[in-house]
This record gives sequence, structure tokens and C-alpha cells, in this order.
Amino acid sequence: MCGIVGYIGSKRAADIVIDGLKKLEYRGYDSAGVGLIENGKLEIIKKKGRVVNTEESIPKTFNGGVAIGHTRWATHGVPSDNNSHPHRSESIAVVHNGIIENYAVLKKELEEEGILFQSETDTEVIPHLIKSAISHSMSDIHKKKREACYLHAVLMAIKKLKGSYALAILNSDFPDTIVCVKKGSPLVVSKSESSVFVASDVEVASSHGKNVYILEDDEMVLLRSDEVSFFDMNGREKEKDPMEYISNESADGFAGNPHYMLKEIKEIPQAIHETAKSVENCFLKLPKWKLNKLKKIIIVGCGTAYHAGLSAKTILETHTGIPVANEIASEFRYSNPIIDKNTLVILVSQSGETADTIAALDIAKKKKALTLAVVNNATSALAMEADCKITTRAGKEIAVASTKAYNSQLVALYSFALYLSVVLRKINSQKARELKSKIMETTSISRQVIEMGLDKIDKTIIDIFKNEKAVMFLGRGVDYATAAEASLKLKEISYIHCESYPAGELKHGTIALIEEGYLVVAYLTDSLLKDKTLNALYEVKARGAKVFAITNQELPKDAYDYIYHVPSIGIFSPITSIIPMQIISYFTAIAKDYDPDKPRNLAKSVTVE
Ligand code: G6P
Repeated sequence: MCGIVGYIGSKRAADIVIDGLKKLEYRGYDSAGVGLIENGKLEIIKKKGRVVNTEESIPKTFNGGVAIGHTRWATHGVPSDNNSHPHRSESIAVVHNGIIENYAVLKKELEEEGILFQSETDTEVIPHLIKSAISHSMSDIHKKKREACYLHAVLMAIKKLKGSYALAILNSDFPDTIVCVKKGSPLVVSKSESSVFVASDVEVASSHGKNVYILEDDEMVLLRSDEVSFFDMNGREKEKDPMEYISNESADGFAGNPHYMLKEIKEIPQAIHETAKSVENCFLKLPKWKLNKLKKIIIVGCGTAYHAGLSAKTILETHTGIPVANEIASEFRYSNPIIDKNTLVILVSQSGETADTIAALDIAKKKKALTLAVVNNATSALAMEADCKITTRAGKEIAVASTKAYNSQLVALYSFALYLSVVLRKINSQKARELKSKIMETTSISRQVIEMGLDKIDKTIIDIFKNEKAVMFLGRGVDYATAAEASLKLKEISYIHCESYPAGELKHGTIALIEEGYLVVAYLTDSLLKDKTLNALYEVKARGAKVFAITNQELPKDAYDYIYHVPSIGIFSPITSIIPMQIISYFTAIAKDYDPDKPRNLAKSVTVE
């Protein structure tokens, strides 16, 4: 998703901004651009494609110390040089992450004033609105200081916008400033002695200074090389203290691996271990008296995070006796959910910045539900705004396709289920400790599964997948959740059409797709449901399907064509049974010559609706 950077200081701003954009590449993008102040003049360089295209187009003679930059993930208008950011209106350049929902109305009004638009984007209305507001407030110019007048104009323009925005604004009439505004999309400012830096991501921002300011919604900030001033939406200056952010990320890049995805798969054991070890501290901060009154739990998320919630439903229900529903965040936010103060809404998100999940949090809070964020990014909007949080300790995940974050989300959610069942006196602490030690065991078991996978998943196995046009994933109960996540993993990086179905539902329509040679991947790790899933396997085999079974059970030989054994860890098996398909997906993408870290059309963190 779009990424923003900005810099003011004594170094060559172009270098710093390009470096920042490269660090934001993981978010997913299709074009990039930079706006700089060079000898008092605004210069814009923007190109479709990789950041390096923009980098190579910046004249070597541009040595100024002020710049903003952007990676664009197209929403309004195709990826093109013109639609890339920054967008400008004379002396003003803007980069934007978010969506301006009322841009069509605003564009029409501006066009009626005679403004000619250069792009198809929603963003371009913003510089024109600011320019127009500056012109209108010129009559006041004698009463106000010029700069205050400019900030006032920015606020006037912002008040017309509906939607979400993180903005960095450059104005060559105020060449030693950058103005930023935030609503909905993330923005973090960092400050060192002689420079300020702003970025969409705390890790990237903190690489330029450990003192960071995480912007809240409806905040405006004026940046100068030696000063950071915050304002509310009425233009009143406000105090804001920085927080010290020490990254726990090592700067080891790929750590000897060809891709982040493989590196992150290998980090699963550590992610599980760190999460399992630390979640208990998070539980200590949960309000027990509210947990005791719960009548309903809803787990909300998108993509992989949604699947983690699906996987946790059974364990939560069986151990707490509280009904659990799973909701996709983009559906939940408009569903007028029937929830109240006796409902726990768990919001699962790796980034903590997914726009739909944040909107789901807002709805849940408005309806007075208790909200619990399960996030990997402890400084994210979700982590800050939910009533309570559990932090997964997967470490930074860069590959777009989520791997280690999923395994740690399962650890966090399963551990929470045990904690809650003790609070509710459904199981005693001794039993909970025994079960928790099983979760801890998944650290070493995951290590074995990865080692075995990297050894065993060879060309023969990848050949089964790589030439398929479509693959069906089946499972029941928790195995269905694993099948859904496995299906997402394979489709998002290998571009093979994948469907996931609860095995028992297959015969109500989807089995019509099965024909000679169709590949079906089946998960069978739940001994109670194994025989039921086997029925579905016989049904698809009878119609010519090839079955690839992933299981910790003994299966009759005529039920499958290929069998992949995973260890059994009882109800916690999903923590590790997903791993073979994470590895298979990775190597299938490689075999098809696709970049598994940057799949087409996808973004790591979806900060727009
Ligand atoms: C994007 C990513 C997925 C991720 C989903 C939810 O679609 O490509 O990998 O699962 O967003 O992200 P979150 O950060 O909320 O877990």
C-alpha cells in the first residue's frame, strides 16, 4: 500500500528519501515519486515501476535538504508517471496514503474554478484545495503571519476532505518546512539533532532517530530541521512528547536467504517461542471482571489474520463455553453488529494498520464492546486504540505473504483461550499449564517440520503444483481454517486459482468443478473429523481428482495419491501443520519465476478501504 517519507536536514534529501522509499517497498506499490526543493524551486520526479526508476531520474546536481517521497499502490487511475505522487498545484506538492471519498465532487468544484487536472487520482484535489485556500485567505495576510496563514489554508482544505489520509506537503514558498496531516492512515515522525524525518512506518522512521512521534488522527505537524510543532484541527498548537523506539529488528536483510519469505518461514520457531513466552504478561493487563461477564466473542480480521481467528474459534468455544463468531473486517464494519458491553471483539492484525480492521475496532468501541487487539506491531493504531492488546512477537514481517505472523497469531489466540478458560473456571490452572506446555512444544516441533520440509519438498512435490490451473483445498473444523490459509498462501504468490472449502460442503455445488486430474489438497489433523474428510476424498477421487493429503493420521492408501506427514500436537496441530504449504507455496512461486516477496497487485499493509 502507499508509503510516505519526508526529510528536512543538512544531508542530500534525495538520497535519504529514496532510501526510505526502498525500505517501504515491502508494503507493495506500482510507482514512486519524489518532490524536492532545489534552489527555492519545487521539482517533481515520478515514475511508474520500481523506486530505482525514480532514483535514476533525479539529477545528480539536486543537493537540497528538503524532500518528500511516495510509493503508490494504484486505487484511482492506472499506474503511470502522471498518476504517481507527488501531485502539485504551482508551489505545492502533496503525497498521500489513503482514499479521498468525496474527490469527484471536489474535483468538479475545482474544475469549475478553472483548474486543470493532470492526473486521474483522488489525491490531486488536495494541492489544488490548499492553493485555493491560500488564495482566499490572502485578504487576511496582513493580520496573520504568512506561515500561520499557510497552515490555516491547509486546515481549510483538509476540512473539505472525506476519507482517509496521511499527507506530507511541500511548499516552495515555505522551503524549509514539511507539513503533515493524519487521519486513518499511519504516519510517524522521528527527530534527531539536526534533522527530522517522517515515514508511514515506525521501523523506517526510527532508522533516522530513536525519538519518534506517532501521529494520531486529526493531527497536523509542522516539520523544520530543528523543530516539530503539533496542531489540532482548529489550528491550536498542542504539546506532544516523543517516545523512544528501539527497534528489535536486526539489520541483517535476507540473512543469507534469497527472499524474505524463506527467511521468515525459518524464523517461525523463534516467533512461536517469543510469543508463547511473552503473552502471559499481556494477559495480566486484561480486565478480569469484564472477561467474567462475557456472553459472546467475535474475532475480526482480514486475509491471514481472519484465518487465524477461524482457527481459534473451536478452541475458544470448547474451553470457555462462550459462543464465538468470525467476521471479515470489511463486512463487519458495515453489518451493524449486535454487540454490547458483554461482547469481546478480538481484532487480529499483523500490521495493526489495516483500514478495515481499524474501522471494525471503531464500531466495536462505539457499541461499548470490550476490544482486544492481537497485533504484531505494538505501536500501531490498532494496538494504541483497542482497550487491551496482546502483542505477537514474530518480529518484522516483510514478505507480503504472511507466514511467521500467522503461526504466532495462533499461539497468541490459543494461549488466550486457555487463559480465559481459567478466568472463567472452566479448567484449573494445572490443566492450563499442561496445555500451555504443549503450545511451547510447538517451537521445537515447528523447527523439525521446517527442516523436514526444506529437505523433503523437492522438485517432485513442486511439480505436482506448479503446472496446475486450479487447486481445491479441503478440511473440516480447524483443518478447514488451515486449508483456507494454505489456499491463500498458494494463490497469492503462485497465481494459481485456489479454492478452499469445508470438506462436507463440497457436494453442495463445488464438486461440479472436479474432473480428471484436478488437484485437491486435504488437511486431516483432527482425529475426530478424519473419517468425515475421508468421505470427501473418496468422492473427489471417484471423479478423477489427484489427492495430496497433509495429515498426522494413518490414512487408507486408496484415499490419496500423495501423503505428507506432519507431527500431531493434538488441538494445537494447526500451529505447525500449515508449515508444509507455506514452504510449498514459496517454492512453487520460485519454480514459476515469480518474486514471492512482492506478488503482483498485493500490498503488505492495506491502509485504504
Ligand atoms: C494484506 C496482506 C495479507 C494480510 C492482510 C491483513 O492483504 O497481503 O498478508 O493477511 O493484509 O493484514 P494485517 O496486517 O491486518 O494482518
